[in-house]
Formats: sequence, C-alpha cells, structure tokens
Amino acid sequence: MQLLAIDDLSMRFGGLTAINDLGFSVDQGEIRGLIGPNGAGKTTLFNVISGVYKPSKGSITFKGTEIGTMKPHRTARMGIVRTFQSITLFKNFSVLKNVMIGCHLNSNYSYWGALFNTAKTRSSEQENESRAREILEFMGLTQYVDDLAANLPHGHQRALGIAIAMAAEPELLMLDEPCTGMNPDETAEMVNLINKIRDRGVTILLIEHDMKVVMGICDKITVINFGTKIAEGTPAEIRKDELVHEAYLGSDFDAP
Ligand SMILES: Nc1ncnc2c1ncn2[C@@H]1O[C@H](COP(=O)(O)OP(=O)(O)OP(=O)(O)O)[C@@H](O)[C@H]1O
Ligand SMILES: [Mg+2]
Repeated sequence: MQLLAIDDLSMRFGGLTAINDLGFSVDQGEIRGLIGPNGAGKTTLFNVISGVYKPSKGSITFKGTEIGTMKPHRTARMGIVRTFQSITLFKNFSVLKNVMIGCHLNSNYSYWGALFNTAKTRSSEQENESRAREILEFMGLTQYVDDLAANLPHGHQRALGIAIAMAAEPELLMLDEPCTGMNPDETAEMVNLINKIRDRGVTILLIEHDMKVVMGICDKITVINFGTKIAEGTPAEIRKDELVHEAYLGSDFDAP
C-alpha cells in the first residue's frame, strides 16, 4: 500500500530552486533511501514533507490525504516524524526526561490540568514515564535513563534523538543522516535499530551518505540531484546506474 506520494513538487527560495518537479512514492513498511550530493535538496524535502516549508508547487499526500499545506504539528499528528541532521536534544535533562517530552505530543495532556497538577494529569505523566521507559528499552538505552543527555557517547545521543521521535508514535519516520560521525560499531548498532524500528511496522525514509548503510538496509533508493529525481531502484540497480555514478557515487560506489 502506498503511504506517501510526492507529485510534481517544487520548493524555491528566492531565485534558488532546491526541489524541482520531484515525484516519487513510498510504500508502507519500506525502508527507502534518499541519496544525492550535498545541496541536492534532501533535507529541504524533509522540511517540506513535515510542513516546515510550504511547497512552491506540487502535492504531497500521506495515506491519501493532501498534507502539502499542513503545519508541522499537524503532520506530526498524522504520523510523520523526523529527526534532524544535527543532534537536537535537551542536553541538560535526563535521557528519560527527553523521551517523556517526546511523549507529550501524543498524550491527552491539558494545559490547565498540567498547571493545577490534577489527578488525570498525574496519571498521564505516569503513563508517559512508563512509555518512555519502554521506548528506551527498545532503543537499547535503558542503562542511561538517569544520565544527562549531554553525557551520552555520540552514537547513543543519536539513538536518543530517534527515541524521542519514536515517542510520537510515527507511521513514517524520516531520518536525516543518522550515522554521521559514527564509528563502525556505532554504525552497526544504528543499522540494527533502524531494522528493528521497521520490523515494528514503521515506514522509514532515510537520508544517509554512508553507502554501506544505504546499500545494506534500503529496500529501494531514490537518488536526487539538483532537486530532481535522477534514478530509483533497488540497491543493486542503483549500484549499476551510470547517471548515479556520475552525479554522486564515485569512489564509494564499490563499497561492499
Ligand atoms: N531556508 C533556506 N533558504 C534558502 N536556501 C535554502 C534554505 N534551505 C535550503 N536551502 C538551499 O537549498 C539547497 C538544498 O539544501 P539541502 O539542505 O536540502 O541539501 P541536502 O541535500 O540536505 O545537502 P546535505 O547532503 O549537505 O545535507 C541548498 O542550495 C541550500 O543552500
Ligand atoms: Mg541535508
């Protein structure tokens, strides 16, 4: 089943066209890779899908509903959640607190209830805590629950960023370069995590420059250059594609 469909999409910033007549669709349950050179428009696409920018032209449908004009809080409620290229955590809060903040997006928390600390709010706070603990266990972060986010090793800070995103119960999780700056062990752990998240039924759109990762876990890959799709296919097909070779892959191309 088709989950996300991008059609004839363009995003212009003044004279610069960051996304140019882009079209592709993602099926439910896929891990879809999104690759292309620096400045190709990958992060911009995440910003447009999540509603940070309103597209200059074209349509984005999610489960059949047009979401192109929705603001980020609405796309998040629809089930579209993204992580950022740079790490964004509440560094001086505990790991647990970070995920509990993520849970708030989804809880029936009322402003007045929170202000007066009503019984209902207290119980939803407890629900949030137990959900946050479950997510942290799933993400392999249980041993760090009480640590300050700032004190986690880099790889685990990245995993925490994804744990926060998971707290919003995404149907589509968009990961912007999750493996950047990781050592090989951290990268291998991240790959396991991404697979585990997909096995839970979450569809994944993955921007990543590490070709071993992309070729290893994606069902299909969409390649963009200057905001336009230049190729799409399985990792094996993309590996053979001449245009992709020229535009992007170069020496990384032969990575196992
Ligand atoms: N808010 C903005 N205002 C003006 N130009 C922007 C804005 N956001 C992005 N751009 C431009 O759009 C183009 C695409 O940028 P984008 O960040 O989407 O690339 P990317 O594919 O994510 O690259 P990278 O691999 O380096 O992260 C770039 O030329 C960038 O400078
Ligand atoms: Mg980017």
